[in-house]
Parts: sequence; C-alpha cells; structure tokens
Amino acid sequence: VEQGDLHGRRIVVTAGGTREPLDPVRYLGNRSSGRQGVAIARAAARRGATVTLIAANLETAAPSEVELVPVSTAAELREAAVALAAEADVVIMAAAVADYRPAAISEGKIKKDEQGDELSLRLVRNPDILKELAEKRAEGRLVVGFAAETEPDRDALLALARKKLDAKGCDFLVVNVVGWDRGFASHDNEIIVLDRGGDIVAEASGSKMSVADRILDAIG
Ligand code: C5P
Repeated sequence: VEQGDLHGRRIVVTAGGTREPLDPVRYLGNRSSGRQGVAIARAAARRGATVTLIAANLETAAPSEVELVPVSTAAELREAAVALAAEADVVIMAAAVADYRPAAISEGKIKKDEQGDELSLRLVRNPDILKELAEKRAEGRLVVGFAAETEPDRDALLALARKKLDAKGCDFLVVNVVGWDRGFASHDNEIIVLDRGGDIVAEASGSKMSVADRILDAIG
C-alpha cells in the first residue's frame, strides 16, 4: 500500500465563515463558501494525513474522509480550534472569522416598529484566534493563517500581508485576493504563500483543489 507524503500528520483545518447572531433569526456573516478550506482538508486526507475539519457554515459538502466539527460563531470556532490545536502538527486557519460580533444578542426579533427609520448596531471585537494559536503553539508545530485582501496592487498587497504576518506571528500566511467576483464565492483561487520571514515560498492559481495541494507542498 502506498502511503501519502502526509501520512502520520495530524492536521486541523478551519473552513467557512462565522455567523454572529443579532437575534434569534438574524446574523452578521460573510461570503466565504468554505471551498478552499474544504479543498485543503480533502487534499491533506488524500495525502495520508489525519484531518479534522472545523466547519463554519459551509456552502459546500464536507469530505467524508475527515472528522467534522461543526461550529457557527467565532466563539465556537475558537473553542474547537484551541482544544484541537493541542493535538495537531499543523493548524490551517482558512475560515473567515468575523472580526466583530454584536455587543448584545436580542432575546426576541429586532422589530422595525420599535427601531424606526434607522438602526445602529454596536459591535465588539472578537478575539484573534490565529494569533492565540500562534502564541500557544508548541515547538515543531505549524500554524498557518490566511489573509483575504481586496488590494489590487501586488506590492501593496504583499506589504499588507507582511504586516499581518508579523501581527499574527504564524509560520505561514496564505494571501488571497478576494473581491465581488473572486476568491470567496468562486471555484478558482489565486494565492501567494509567505513564510515566517515574509519570503514568497509559493504562488498558485487555478482550482481550489490544485491550490490546496500547492499550499500543502509549500508548508512542507
Ligand atoms: O485579521 P484578518 O481577519 O485579516 O486575518 C485573517 C486570518 O486570521 C485568517 O487565518 C483567519 O482565520 C484568522 N482570524 C482569526 N480570528 C479572528 C479573525 C481572523 O483567527 N478574529
């Protein structure tokens, strides 16, 4: 039996987009479909890794060959990621985690009759899970972050990404250009992988499955 190059490795992947509830029927969300994270989980499993997928509101089917941990909010994703990261060789944070959540969740539906013509929402910052995982990671473990950016200029994009890499303290950062019609909702992706020092170690574009393999190659 041929064993894949990731045989014996325990990999945790987060995918999808968190939803932050406003009231029992509404949430603040984002357009992440989860396809890139799911492709990474599938590719890693095919290459022999033991994969856990922390899945936030996927709009695509999860692979059957991975262990699935469904979550919805950033707080749930954090709890799962922190617990599972302790046993993982590699954590790949592909999920789009909400930077903010509503300061309060209304018990009942927010009613327009009570709010009038304008409604202001007060939001509070969510904890940065990637940064926390990077700070807590044990020697020899890898933490990989994503940076979805709308910056069209390559140099400006790389400058942003390097700043993010420093702020997060992760081992690799996968930069992907997103926009109204690319990145999140689409089937293709275009990425640049930076290592800890900010050097480009891979660039890929194409199907999310082919991009997934290139990311896994790059992080070794
Ligand atoms: O800061 P920004 O949202 O651009 O960072 C993106 C990276 O950080 C992604 O890997 C995402 O999963 C992660 N993230 C996180 N916790 C947050 C926000 C983002 O782990 N609250």
